[in-house]
Amino acid sequence: MLSTGLLTKFSVLWLATVATLKVSSSSILNSSASANATNTRNGTSKPNFVFIITDDQDLHLSSMDYMPFVQKHFGQGGTFYKRHYCTISICCPSRVSLLTGKAAHNTNVTDVSPPFGGYPKFISQGFNDKYLPVWLQEAGYNTYYTGKLMNGHSTSTYNDPFVSGWNGSDFLIDPGTYLYWNATFQRNHSPPSSFPDDYSTDLVNEKGLDFLNVAANGSKPFFLGIAPIAPHAVTKSGNFSPPDPAPRHQDLFPDLKAPRTDNFNPEEPSGASWVFNLERLNDTVIEHHDDFYRRRIQSLQAVDELVDNVINRLTEQNLLDNTYIIYTSDNGFHIGQHRLQPGKTCAFEEDINVPFYIRGPGIEKGKTVDLVTTHTDIVPTLFELAGIELRDDFDGKPMPVTEKAIEAAEQVRSVKKNEHVNVEFWGVGIQEGTFGGRGQNNTYKTLRIFGDGYNLMYTVWCTNEHELYDMSKDPGQLNNLARSSSNQTQLLNQPIDKVQGRLDALLLVLKTCKASSCRDPWAVLHPNSTVTNLEAALSSTYDAFYEAQPKVSYSKCELGQILDSEGPLVGNVYEGSDMWPNWV
Ligand SMILES: *[C@@H]1O[C@H](CO)[C@@H](O)[C@H](O)[C@H]1NC(C)=O
Ligand SMILES: *[C@@H]1O[C@H](CO)[C@@H](O)[C@H](O)[C@H]1NC(C)=O
Ligand SMILES: *[C@@H]1O[C@H](CO)[C@@H](O)[C@H](O)[C@H]1NC(C)=O
Ligand SMILES: *[C@@H]1O[C@H](CO)[C@@H](O)[C@H](O)[C@H]1NC(C)=O
Ligand SMILES: *[C@@H]1O[C@H](CO)[C@@H](O)[C@H](O)[C@H]1NC(C)=O
Ligand SMILES: *[C@@H]1O[C@H](CO)[C@@H](O)[C@H](O)[C@H]1NC(C)=O
Ligand SMILES: *[C@@H]1O[C@H](CO)[C@@H](O)[C@H](O)[C@H]1NC(C)=O
Ligand SMILES: *[C@@H]1O[C@H](CO)[C@@H](O)[C@H](O)[C@H]1NC(C)=O
Ligand SMILES: *[C@@H]1O[C@H](CO)[C@@H](O)[C@H](O)[C@H]1NC(C)=O
Ligand SMILES: *[C@@H]1O[C@H](CO)[C@@H](O)[C@H](O)[C@H]1NC(C)=O
Ligand SMILES: *[C@@H]1O[C@H](CO)[C@@H](O)[C@H](O)[C@H]1NC(C)=O
Repeated sequence: MLSTGLLTKFSVLWLATVATLKVSSSSILNSSASANATNTRNGTSKPNFVFIITDDQDLHLSSMDYMPFVQKHFGQGGTFYKRHYCTISICCPSRVSLLTGKAAHNTNVTDVSPPFGGYPKFISQGFNDKYLPVWLQEAGYNTYYTGKLMNGHSTSTYNDPFVSGWNGSDFLIDPGTYLYWNATFQRNHSPPSSFPDDYSTDLVNEKGLDFLNVAANGSKPFFLGIAPIAPHAVTKSGNFSPPDPAPRHQDLFPDLKAPRTDNFNPEEPSGASWVFNLERLNDTVIEHHDDFYRRRIQSLQAVDELVDNVINRLTEQNLLDNTYIIYTSDNGFHIGQHRLQPGKTCAFEEDINVPFYIRGPGIEKGKTVDLVTTHTDIVPTLFELAGIELRDDFDGKPMPVTEKAIEAAEQVRSVKKNEHVNVEFWGVGIQEGTFGGRGQNNTYKTLRIFGDGYNLMYTVWCTNEHELYDMSKDPGQLNNLARSSSNQTQLLNQPIDKVQGRLDALLLVLKTCKASSCRDPWAVLHPNSTVTNLEAALSSTYDAFYEAQPKVSYSKCELGQILDSEGPLVGNVYEGSDMWPNWV
């Protein structure tokens, strides 16, 4: 966190720059007068939603500390979920999971481009008719979106077919998505156009505010998605270079360096597989990383202004009291941790634990909660807030967001759910920046699990290597307890192998789970039983059962979800001391 004095100084500086940011609104009808009608037209009062999503923004590299308006409007004005996770750490698959409420193994949109991902895969999997905005329209919402929807949504695919579900849209599309200058936008059903003289985030800001005016003028509740690309790297023909800040921000923070976390360029190698074999970074590379980091923070300043503009506009429109506003990122980011080049795609905490803030009616201000939540929970959460019946096929479940719901969830947490996160990845790890590259096998399944007295992460790689970290003692993930050279033999006062066996069985459920088995995986292993968390499963009663359980493994590193290479898909159910049939 920044000191208060520093924060105040920044705020003053930014207030000055906001004034110079021109947002055209003169052409838009002043809609304040009709604002109240939006939500009460036919006697119902469904809330509005404004969903702001950044691209590749970290939670663990302090980026939020440099966003005073986000701190003010969300940190002080809303609730922060410190244990919110993406379930796949890369843009398009993460966004598709987010927009459908489904894990990537169930969307099978697992990459940024065909055959395993991208917009064409989203279309061929049938999601254009089965995702958030379509469902919201069916429930009586008007829906709007500007900015990046997903990778592979491009000048050649945008009308093949058009994205459905939006009453108004102005998308950033490839190959111009990740250009801060001369970005390509595609509005409603019009052909794409490029904007050589404007800064991408400011355009998204302006278009977002325009849609807000249109939405506020309508007679229905609305959803507005605003998706600037910051702080994503500038990406051109497969090369990733540091983001371009807006010119008004390019000289800020001249001395800022990438945070030297305890796992930054560690002396001893860490991680499994290809990460363990990385060489230590030299000074040239570290200097590059510092520059990369500084430019990310600079590029986020325009997003911070966007946030302030959106909140101010909602206030002017008298809509703030009936609008839920969310701030999050599609996935996290690392720079130099574990000797890595800048990037995401890993299961390290930096890549998967992402910012998530919500503010709105019934939501406490200035609160931090440590309930475990994920991106697949977001659509169910919106459904619940909008009073829409939950779909049976959601892999996620509504997040407790109101004060009452949070209290209730905190009370039952130790005995029920809200314990695990299922993270997965297929394909290659991408290392960004000048010293980056592409091509390492990076297919894995990860279980992140929290409970009374435990905070663990367990990963099985397509090479059949394992990682196990005690995150309470080793948050930087430097001491892999599953490595044979590890000198630690006990975890949770149990032999490590025993704990690992329980985690492996839970991961076996999660890697193929669907709907209720994703939400409540212990019930697959222990139906009709009181075993609903790791602690209960550790009882010695179940030792033989877990020892006999098939283990998560792979026969090959694939670039997508080829089940033939993903080892056992079915395990055993505990129905008594000697009754362990397969689950179905
Ligand atoms: C819009 O309405 C608000 C509230 O009545 C008022 O403060 C503002 O000046 C109006 N803006 C324009 C452009 O008319
Ligand atoms: C809208 O609601 C607010 C607060 O309930 C009220 O003060 C205002 O007069 C209403 N405006 C209109 C145009 O009805
Ligand atoms: C109000 O409108 C919503 C959305 O169009 C609809 O689902 C609902 O049934 C309507 N309620 C009444 C009381 O007409
Ligand atoms: C938004 O689109 C839905 C679905 O096509 C439609 O029912 C609704 O009337 C549209 N809203 C407006 C304001 O045009
Ligand atoms: C902007 O992008 C368009 C479309 O890719 C391209 O044709 C044009 O040359 C670019 N303009 C500039 C100034 O780079
Ligand atoms: C607001 O609604 C009125 C009446 O339906 C329409 O004439 C006007 O163009 C709308 N303004 C905007 C910004 O959509
Ligand atoms: C530092 O490391 C980079 C990446 O491995 C390499 O290209 C460069 O030559 C190294 N520089 C020095 C001074 O050793
Ligand atoms: C075990 O290994 C860790 C890291 O490798 C080291 O920090 C620690 O001191 C070792 N503990 C013992 C008891 O040897
Ligand atoms: C669990 O309980 C249900 C309903 O009581 C019963 O139908 C089912 O057979 C039970 N399953 C097991 C594995 O005992
Ligand atoms: C990735 O995995 C495939 C299949 O298991 C293997 O053929 C290939 O050599 C691996 N590539 C690297 C860089 O390890
Ligand atoms: C996922 O998609 C790929 C590419 O189309 C396909 O080969 C694979 O069988 C699919 N996997 C599943 C589990 O449907």
